[in-house]
Amino acid sequence: MNSRRNFIRTAGLASLGLAAGLPEGYASLPPGRKPHKQQFNMSGFRAPKMNTVKIGIIGLGQRGPSHLSTMCHLEGVEIRALCDLRPEKVNQVVRILEGTNHKPTLYSGDKDIWMKLCGQEDLDLVIVTTPWYMHASMSVYAMEHGKHVASEVPAAGTVEECWKLVETAERTKKHMIMLENYAYGVFQLLTLNMARQGFFGEVVHGDCAYNTSKMGNNFSKTLYWDMWWLRLYASRRGNIYPTHGMGPVAQIMNINRGDRFDYLVSMESNDFMMQAQARELAQTDDFFKPFADKTYRGNMSSTLIRTVRGKTILVQHDATSPRGPHTMIHAITGTKGLAQEYPLPPRISRDLKGWLSQEEYDRLAKEYTPKIIDRMGELTRQFGGHGGGDLLECWRLVDCLRNGFPLDQDVYDAAAWSSVVPLSEWSVLNRSNSIEVPDFTQGAWKTNEPNMDINLTNCGETRVLT
Ligand SMILES: NC(=O)c1ccc[n+]([C@@H]2O[C@H](COP(=O)([O-])OP(=O)(O)OC[C@H]3O[C@@H](n4cnc5c(N)ncnc54)[C@H](O)[C@@H]3O)[C@@H](O)[C@H]2O)c1
Repeated sequence: MNSRRNFIRTAGLASLGLAAGLPEGYASLPPGRKPHKQQFNMSGFRAPKMNTVKIGIIGLGQRGPSHLSTMCHLEGVEIRALCDLRPEKVNQVVRILEGTNHKPTLYSGDKDIWMKLCGQEDLDLVIVTTPWYMHASMSVYAMEHGKHVASEVPAAGTVEECWKLVETAERTKKHMIMLENYAYGVFQLLTLNMARQGFFGEVVHGDCAYNTSKMGNNFSKTLYWDMWWLRLYASRRGNIYPTHGMGPVAQIMNINRGDRFDYLVSMESNDFMMQAQARELAQTDDFFKPFADKTYRGNMSSTLIRTVRGKTILVQHDATSPRGPHTMIHAITGTKGLAQEYPLPPRISRDLKGWLSQEEYDRLAKEYTPKIIDRMGELTRQFGGHGGGDLLECWRLVDCLRNGFPLDQDVYDAAAWSSVVPLSEWSVLNRSNSIEVPDFTQGAWKTNEPNMDINLTNCGETRVLT
């Protein structure tokens, strides 16, 4: 259709200043269509087994140390390299490893020092936990240097970067996955199993969200490196954090394996809170003056995605409203029933009589609980009661790598889910016109098998070390 005109309109907006003020290193690109022929199907890919997974981590703010603490308690893991731009972060984090056998090489002090980590010969896996607009370039570089990659969410910020991840993974035959921990939420796993067993009949629609107030976090002068989240809210539009809610729904709808995203539309409100907050703070604190005249992404972002098989997904993102509880909508609507979490408690309905009783809910939850949830319980107990989704995702990643099993997510998930970031931005900037989502599998979605192994058909014996 009018893709050339669309390209020019977006490019025009970029030249009018949308791209200005982006965090350093970020390349704003309009959603371009790129001819790509699949070189190798990474869906179901099995890498050669490795007894020990030798890991390097780039980015040691909050998420990096959290993965480090989990990973160093898994059998068959060696932490071989740690990197952060800021030396004090590396020095702080290395203390987690005191008294253990992990002796990582440390990298810090330069914005390109992470390249040295990627070039370190003895690494198998690079975990990328820097601000998300850096993820794709770091992931691509790591794959080019022979490493598997697990990137925090989202994995990319432009369509071009999404393609780059796909092309590089296919060419280098390296795993590239996103660490979407919400795919390991108990209700998400339960509803995935229910969907696979046909409980919902045909799944028609999914509602999902990441709605949680981050005003305190985003305006904190110390929490995030260089105020990067606040800068993103001032430089991007659309849903800049879609994957927590959408990933599990995409798995339930078999996106990239039986169905795929076709097109989306996105709309957002104005910003009624962020600029006001910046201006108020700037009155008494000069630090906030540069933020006071910026315009910010609208407070409520809503994106509707339609799949080629005619299903719909509504993805919301609101990081500003003064909502106390963290609200992660996860609602699945099908021809024979529906399930919904948030507002709590989780509920199921299968007729016109209303929500099922707690007793009936508990009975169904027991009947449909997949093996992976039971395993999560065991692992969490071994880990001293901590863990949940984060522990499960790290354990699955390590256990699958050690045993040469396919991973629960793949590069096509990372690309398709992350592409909602730039595509929703494009739609917002174009009066909510629709935009096609590229087929990152290049037709392989028709025959790809589901990959989230909730019944642990491919599962080893990797232990949690206490
Ligand atoms: N899955 C989840 O539940 C979850 C939760 C929080 C954050 N995240 C994601 O994790 C990522 C990191 O978030 P965070 O909260 O830890 O941010 P953060 O700001 O606390 O940490 C980012 C770190 O990256 C470092 N860094 C910046 N530039 C660098 C460079 N060139 N080389 C090396 N290090 C560099 C910074 O010094 C900082 O320590 C983000 O992409 C975010 O979206 C995911």
